[in-house]
Amino acid sequence: MSSATIDWNSLGFNYIKTDLRYISYWKDGEWDNGTLTEDNVLHISEGSTALHYGQQCFEGLKAYRCKDGSINLFRPDQNAARMQRSCARLMMPAISTEKFIEACKQVVKANEHFIPPYGSGGSLYLRPYVIGVGDNIGVHPAPEFIFSVFCTPVGPYFKGGMKPVNFMVSSYDRAAPHGTGAAKVGGNYAASLLPGHEANDRNFADCIYLDPETHTKIEEAGGSNFFGITRDNRFITPKSPSILPSITKYSLLELAKRQGLEVEEGDIFIDKLDDFAEAGACGTAAVITPIGGIQNGEHFHTFYSEGDVGPVTKALYDELVGIQYGDREGPAGWVVKIDG
Ligand code: PLP
Ligand code: COI
Repeated sequence: MSSATIDWNSLGFNYIKTDLRYISYWKDGEWDNGTLTEDNVLHISEGSTALHYGQQCFEGLKAYRCKDGSINLFRPDQNAARMQRSCARLMMPAISTEKFIEACKQVVKANEHFIPPYGSGGSLYLRPYVIGVGDNIGVHPAPEFIFSVFCTPVGPYFKGGMKPVNFMVSSYDRAAPHGTGAAKVGGNYAASLLPGHEANDRNFADCIYLDPETHTKIEEAGGSNFFGITRDNRFITPKSPSILPSITKYSLLELAKRQGLEVEEGDIFIDKLDDFAEAGACGTAAVITPIGGIQNGEHFHTFYSEGDVGPVTKALYDELVGIQYGDREGPAGWVVKIDG
C-alpha cells in the first residue's frame, strides 16, 4: 500500500502493510545479522513450537514524528529488556538491547513515509517478536528461532482516543498467579480473546481482570495497565506478579511524582473504587485512556465522568505525549532519536 492514500487523521489501530520488515534467524546457537525484506509472509515448519506450544513473545513500541521533522523512539531499551525477560521465561534465546534497537531503527528508517505527520495524533507502531520454529513435535524449546520487527501506522487503540471508555470486570483470568502474566507472550492474549469479545459485545471497551489468586483486586485490562487517582491526589497502580510490567505505567509513576503527586504501586480493591476521583488505562497502544466507569456484576461505578477527562489524567497525558513527540523535555535517556 502506498502511504499517499492514507488519511492520517482517521487512523485506528489496524494493520497496514508497510514496505520493509526486519528478520533475523537463530540457528546453531547464534543470531545472524538480520536483513530487511519486502516479504510479509513467514514460511515456517509445521512443527514450529510457536504454533503448538505458544513458544513466542512480542513487544510494542512507537516511533513519533516531531514538529522539527525528526523521529523519536520512546524508551526502546525498556522494550528490549522486557523482551529479554519474556525470552528467558519461554526458553528462547535473548535479543541483545543493541540488536533490538538497531532492528527498530532500520525498520523505521526503511518505512519513514509511513510515519504519521506531527499533529495528526498518529504514530508508527513497531511490533517486534520472537518465535520458536523448526521441525519438532515434543514439548521442548524449538531448535531454531526467528526475531522480526514490522511496523504499521496507527491512531488511537480505543475509539475516540482521549475520550473516556467504560470497562467491565471479567469473571475470567488472563493469567495464572505464578504463570506468564508478567511476560509479553501470546498465550495471555489468547486467553483474553473470549472475555474481551464478551465485553465488546456488551459495549465495553475491554475487560478489567482481577487478581487470579483472590479475585478482589484490580490487575489490568486486556491490553493496558490500570491506574487510579485517589481523592487525596495519589497516583496508584496495581502491583502484581501476574500483570505486564508496563513501560508507560513506570513512566507515569515518574511523571506523576514530578507533578507533585504521591505515587504508589499497591492494591486496588474492586470494592473500594469510591476512593478514586479518576482512573485510566495506560500502555503503548492505549497511551492514556480515561476510564469513565467500570461495570462490576450488577453495579456500575462512575469515576470522574463518562464524558469528560479528569484534570490529573489530562495533565499526565499532556506530559507523556509531549515528551514522546519531542515537545517537552523528558527524563534523560527516555527519547532515542532516529537519524534521518
Ligand atoms: N498490559 C498489557 C496486557 C498489555 O498488552 C500492554 C501493552 O503493551 C500493557 C499492559 C502496557 O504496556 P506498555 O506500557 O509497556 O506498552
Ligand atoms: C501495546 O500496547 O503495545 C500492546 O501490545 C497492546 C496490544 C493489545 C495491542
